[in-house]
Amino acid sequence: MRSLKLAAVAALCLAVSACSKDGGSSNEAPADAPTPAATAAPPPTDAGKAAILASLPAPYNTGDLSNGQSKFALCRSCHTITEGGPDLTGPNLYGVFGRKAGAKEGYSYSDAVKAAGFVWDAGQLDKWLADPRGFMPGTKMTFAGIKGEKDRIDLIAYLKVETGFKAPAK
Ligand code: HEC
Repeated sequence: MRSLKLAAVAALCLAVSACSKDGGSSNEAPADAPTPAATAAPPPTDAGKAAILASLPAPYNTGDLSNGQSKFALCRSCHTITEGGPDLTGPNLYGVFGRKAGAKEGYSYSDAVKAAGFVWDAGQLDKWLADPRGFMPGTKMTFAGIKGEKDRIDLIAYLKVETGFKAPAK
């Protein structure tokens, strides 16, 4: 949610600086000047989230985000997912897709996760969430797992939408 807002603001900033270059008078628009356009930035919309969802590979593109959000209640005592959010018992998960396991800076992982040596994608996360300690013996994530496959799909879709996942350009 917040990430979408930040992305929108960043896009606006780019647009504004491009405009001021086109105008030719370089000193008239300091970067930190309040821009009326910024207040008009669209709030993170359900439509924006739906677009990210639709960009996901099957079966995640048909994931149920509201079920995913309710399944995330199982995680939120230990994980934040917002950009720059704090590490709790577990690491902040913003940007986790495409990141090497055990690579969130500043978080102290178990040796098991540090040695895992793979990059998180939907498939790895699905196995992890089904049975964390079976998938990776020695992890310090004390979580029993989510047995329902559809619940894992919905949760992974929700996490992709909320943690800044960008579909690879085709
Ligand atoms: C009781 C606390 C707790 C709960 C609940 C929990 N986790 Fe974790 N999680 C951890 C800990 C601790 C780690 C670090 C594991 C390690 O270093 O062995 C972790 C690690 C992870 C990682 C690896 C991150 C990385 O940077 O490599 C992912 C992904 C993850 N958790 C997802 C989830 C999801 C999704 C849920 C909810 C279904 C969840 N966790 C529930 C504590 C928890």
